[in-house]
Amino acid sequence: MNDPISPDLIPEACTNRILELCGVEVEPDTAVNLWSKILEHKWLLSEQLHRDVGIKTACADFLENTDQVPSQYELHERGRLLREMGGQFIGKEMWDTISDSQPPKQLVQRRIILPLTEEGLSRKHGVIPPKAILFFGPPGTGKTHFAQAIAGALRWWYIEIVPSVLMVDGVESIGANLRETMEKASKLDEVVLFIDEFEEIAGSRDMADRIDKSITNEFLKQIPMLKNKQNKILLVCATNYIRQLDTAILRPGRFDCIIPVGGLDREGRTTILEHYLAKLNTGDIVMEKIVELTSGFTPADIQYLFQQVAQFAFEKELADKKDYLVTVETFTHILQKVPPSLSIEVIEEFKKDSVDYSRI
Ligand SMILES: Nc1ncnc2c1ncn2[C@@H]1O[C@H](COP(=O)(O)OP(=O)(O)O)[C@@H](O)[C@H]1O
Ligand SMILES: [Mg+2]
Repeated sequence: MNDPISPDLIPEACTNRILELCGVEVEPDTAVNLWSKILEHKWLLSEQLHRDVGIKTACADFLENTDQVPSQYELHERGRLLREMGGQFIGKEMWDTISDSQPPKQLVQRRIILPLTEEGLSRKHGVIPPKAILFFGPPGTGKTHFAQAIAGALRWWYIEIVPSVLMVDGVESIGANLRETMEKASKLDEVVLFIDEFEEIAGSRDMADRIDKSITNEFLKQIPMLKNKQNKILLVCATNYIRQLDTAILRPGRFDCIIPVGGLDREGRTTILEHYLAKLNTGDIVMEKIVELTSGFTPADIQYLFQQVAQFAFEKELADKKDYLVTVETFTHILQKVPPSLSIEVIEEFKKDSVDYSRI
């Protein structure tokens, strides 16, 4: 006679049986293993009680007496949440695209990455690893890039929250959506949660209307909630407009570090230029010269410059029907149309903000 259990050894069928009997959803991968344990438990329980115990009873008893199912359930739940929230896994190599001399790389390494990776040593010396940090600086300076690179260096998940997504149900629901998102995120582990355009969420309450105040208030409640969690979650917020942020949000105790992300020095530019140059069809290139020509450029400016150079080379070869090699002259030509984006005023404002707002 066929074993009546055998069809249940199909992973999906096991998932369905466990869900139906125990109300717990587990991944098909783990369901087969779990189902065989429940069957074994049914047999053991029947032996102990000297009667045939039903599968539902065995399942409930197994759940009550093992912490394995909740942990598997948690894993499943986390996987589902990660997918729902668009969790990405970022390669470790992204951290290396940033030059050691590019501020704030060394600071981030010292204050964020090392305390989170060297857990034992942090505990020994009473260093409290950060839970919430804020990046500020002009557009295109690499704030988002830093947040992603941190996730890569830590080998954690990266989840990005864009304020406009919180606004999909209308302005009145932003606070509730923010709470829901933060509550979901707090169930995850080893995650960098990145909130871009943070001023949209935490704009000054003095200037804002009633709705904006409720969003800022909600956020002020969420930060301590996130900090009290044992799971490894790093909240990284970024803004181009630190002056617009509510002063309550900037007080000590909320963000562990408030970090300026500013201009690139020669070495910082060289690293990024090398990264983009590798993608071009180049001829005679004197690196020193390009580094000099791009003084005052942000990473975003450099990226835009290279797009323009690539397009130019592509069109040139199409028109002339012969191999086109990008040279320093190509850059000099394109640079006439691509000036650095940061004005002197913006740079001066940033320098002042770095003194007024940084907490590192
Ligand atoms: N170190 C880097 N190497 C290569 N590209 C970079 C680097 N830093 C930033 N970029 C690129 O420059 C652009 C602007 O960076 P981004 O992080 O979006 O700036 P911000 O968030 O400050 O506006 C992005 O396309 C990013 O990929
Ligand atoms: Mg950004």
